[in-house]
Amino acid sequence: MRDQLENLRSGAKQAIAATSTVEQLQEIRISLLGRKGELTALMKGLGAMDAADRPVIGQLVNAVRDDIESLLSSAIESAQEQAIAARLQDERIDVSLPGRRSQKGTKHPITLVIEEVCAIFSGLGFSVAEGPEIEHDWYNFEALNFPPEHPARDMQDTFFVGNNLLLRTHTSPVQIRTMLKQKPPVRIIAPGTVYRCDSDATHSPMFHQIEGLMVDTKVTFGDLKGVLTVFTNQLFGQKTGVRLRPSYFPFTEPSAEVDIACVICGGKGCRVCKNSGWLEILGAGMVDPEVYRHVQYDAEQISGFAFGMGIERIAMLKYGISDMRLLFENDVRFLRQF
Ligand code: PHE
Repeated sequence: MRDQLENLRSGAKQAIAATSTVEQLQEIRISLLGRKGELTALMKGLGAMDAADRPVIGQLVNAVRDDIESLLSSAIESAQEQAIAARLQDERIDVSLPGRRSQKGTKHPITLVIEEVCAIFSGLGFSVAEGPEIEHDWYNFEALNFPPEHPARDMQDTFFVGNNLLLRTHTSPVQIRTMLKQKPPVRIIAPGTVYRCDSDATHSPMFHQIEGLMVDTKVTFGDLKGVLTVFTNQLFGQKTGVRLRPSYFPFTEPSAEVDIACVICGGKGCRVCKNSGWLEILGAGMVDPEVYRHVQYDAEQISGFAFGMGIERIAMLKYGISDMRLLFENDVRFLRQF
C-alpha cells in the first residue's frame, strides 16, 4: 500500500510536469482524485487493513492527496497565466503603425468649368436658374419659336420620351420657365445636362450647357457683346480676341455665333482651329419677339439677349483635352490632373 501510494505520487508529479494545458490538468485531477480515480480506489482498500496500520497509511493517503492537489492547482494557475499571455501577444495591436489613408477625390473638369463660368456671371449680377432634364416639347421647341414640323428642329437630334415629352436638347427651355415665373428685369444663367442623339470624338449623347438670359428695358446688342467680351477675357485671359459671326437660331434675331482667337496658336492657325485662327464657343442673339409673345412679355417695352455654350467644348479648349470621351470615362489617372 505504502509503495502504491508513493508510486502514485511520483507518477502524478511526472504527469503534471509534462502537461501544459488547463484542460489536460483537469483531466489528471479527475483520473487521480475523482470519485472513480486511482487514489480513491486505493483508499477503499484501507478498510481491509490491520487496525494498527490504518492511521499511518491514512495519514500518508492524506499527504499524497494534498501534495497532488497543490501541485495541480499551481500547475493550473501557471497554465492559465500562460494562456492569457499568449492571447495578449496574439491580439497585440501596434498603435504606433501609420493608419490607412483615405483617397481624396478631385473636382471633375466639367464641374470646375461650370463653377468658374457661374462665378464670372454672378460677378456681373446674374443668378443661377435650373429646369428639368425631361422636358415638354412646348418648352424645348414650341415656345422658343420652333413650330411643329419646322425644319429648324432637325438642328438638334432629339431623344423623344413619348407623349410630347423629350430629353431637353438645350438649356434654352429654362429661359421660358424663368420668364413665365418672373417679370423683367431678368438676369440668369442656367447650367445643366442636355441630350442629343450624336456620338463621336467631339460629340456625346449627354453633355452640358450653360444658358444666359438678360431682359430689361433698353438692352442692346452692344450689351451682349460687352458681357461676352468680359466673360471670355476672364475665362481665357485678358487679351483673347472675340468675334461675332451672323448665324441663325429660331429664338433669337439677329443671331450670332461667337468665336475666340485660338487658345492653342493665338490666331496664327493650327490643327485645333483647322487653320482658321478662331474657335467657336457659343451661340447668342437678341431674344426674338415671338418668344416674348409665348411668355406674355411686351416686346414693345423690353428687349434682351440670350446665349448658350457647351461646357465640354470649353473644358477641352481650356485644358487642352483632345477627345471629349475622356471627360466621361472617369479614369482617375485623367481626373487627378485637374
Ligand atoms: N440653344 C442653342 C443651342 O443649343 C444655343 C443658344 C442659346 C443660341 C441661346 C442662342 C441663344 O445650340
